[in-house]
Amino acid sequence: MNLTLFVWRQGGPSSKGAFEKHELQDVSADSSFLEMLDMLNERLVSQGKAPFAFEHDCREGICGSCSMSINGRPHGPKKLTTACQLHMRTFKDGDTVYIEPFRANGFPVVKDLVVDRSAFDRIQQAGGYVSVNTGAAPEANSIAIEKDFSDEAFDAAACIGCGACVAACPNGSAMLFTAAKVAHLGLLPQGQPERASRVISMVKKMDEEMFGGCTNHGECQEACPKGISIKYITRLNRDFISAHFHKAASIRGKMRAQ
Ligand code: FES
Repeated sequence: MNLTLFVWRQGGPSSKGAFEKHELQDVSADSSFLEMLDMLNERLVSQGKAPFAFEHDCREGICGSCSMSINGRPHGPKKLTTACQLHMRTFKDGDTVYIEPFRANGFPVVKDLVVDRSAFDRIQQAGGYVSVNTGAAPEANSIAIEKDFSDEAFDAAACIGCGACVAACPNGSAMLFTAAKVAHLGLLPQGQPERASRVISMVKKMDEEMFGGCTNHGECQEACPKGISIKYITRLNRDFISAHFHKAASIRGKMRAQ
């Protein structure tokens, strides 16, 4: 198939970017979207021009690094599909395709289609862990976990941290990502000791990283390639309120004891 591509070209975080037009011929319908970009880059390199920078790693929908918007939608037109898992058969011969980086305050552009998503790492580092003693692996069945809870925790853990939720949200909010990470541990027995401090720290970090607030648009859930539900945002809000009650009660208790 033949395509007209408009690809975002931006030299660095402070340079002004713009779409660059390219005509690409003989793209196989069986190739993946990233293979199509490889093809474009090979052609540019053979002409002595700079290739477009874009991120990828697994190309299997696991790592979350292939973050880009295709025709205005994070990861493109196919639901529950990352850009690397999108195939060119989704498009028609003669189509025009716009490819640009994720747009959000919390994700500054590094170069072309690459954005800096390290804010997600810092949110995770603020509380997305459990403190346990290291040593021999414990017996897997020593802590019984109800099936409903383990299933729900697993669904939340499916988040690959790609940032599509942020790019899709008109407020650039990272609530779905943070909620998934908070719920993943908060639903399991191992996550209970730090449940209150986790939600407070992660929400605080999310705000510091310049992500917007959630106003229930629901675009995040539509764009999520892993189908993470906004019910986890409800859970996050509940945990956040109850963590503050616990904190206030514990301060009052300490004051009475003095
Ligand atoms: S490259 Fe890993 S999810 Fe797309």
